[in-house]
Amino acid sequence: MNKILGIVGSPRKKGNTFELVSKILEGSKLKGADTNIIYLEDLDINECNGCHTCWQGLECSKKDDMNEIYPELIEADVIIFGTPVYWFGPTALMKAFIDRFVYFNCPENRTKIKGTKAIIVIPFEDDNFETATPLEMMFEKSFEYLEINLINKIIVPGVGKKGDVLKKSNVLENCFNIGQRII
Ligand SMILES: Cc1cc2nc3c(=O)[nH]c(=O)nc-3n(C[C@H](O)[C@H](O)[C@H](O)COP(=O)(O)O)c2cc1C
Repeated sequence: MNKILGIVGSPRKKGNTFELVSKILEGSKLKGADTNIIYLEDLDINECNGCHTCWQGLECSKKDDMNEIYPELIEADVIIFGTPVYWFGPTALMKAFIDRFVYFNCPENRTKIKGTKAIIVIPFEDDNFETATPLEMMFEKSFEYLEINLINKIIVPGVGKKGDVLKKSNVLENCFNIGQRII
């Protein structure tokens, strides 16, 4: 069965990122996928300090919630990375999470993530699509490096307040359809 894992990297509960990621998962679930959603805000994920213990086949030296997430990332067929634009980049929550992908950046662990499909979901307040470009590039370059296969991008300008995205029915419908199509 297809495993679809949604990551919500916004610290705002039930915000725009949550709504978009949930819609994709809803579409996938309807098609029979095994879906799960992770709220980074609820977890304790510390920054990577580059000790590279993980490259020696050992568990990460940071004793936090990331050690329970690695198996979920490894099992997932598709990972949805959701974060709003925060100062032209990701939230601090999403950045800490991505930094911990250093775990996958050694030959022994690379095969555990290589070929996994990814979707990025990026809402933000400005009306200008270019506001998301640096953040898109961060994901694209990192995925290219890790051999993760970026299959879709949901870039949603013009959503500032919590729930703004609920007024964009075409965007939500698109997310739902994408969720169905990835199965
Ligand atoms: C700390 C912070 C920084 C932000 N920086 C930007 C920005 O650079 N450009 C922008 O268009 N919106 C920016 N925003 C607005 C958010 O991207 C927007 O409110 C988004 O819808 C939040 O998504 P959420 O509801 O999932 O938290 C920022 C918001 C916060 C709280």
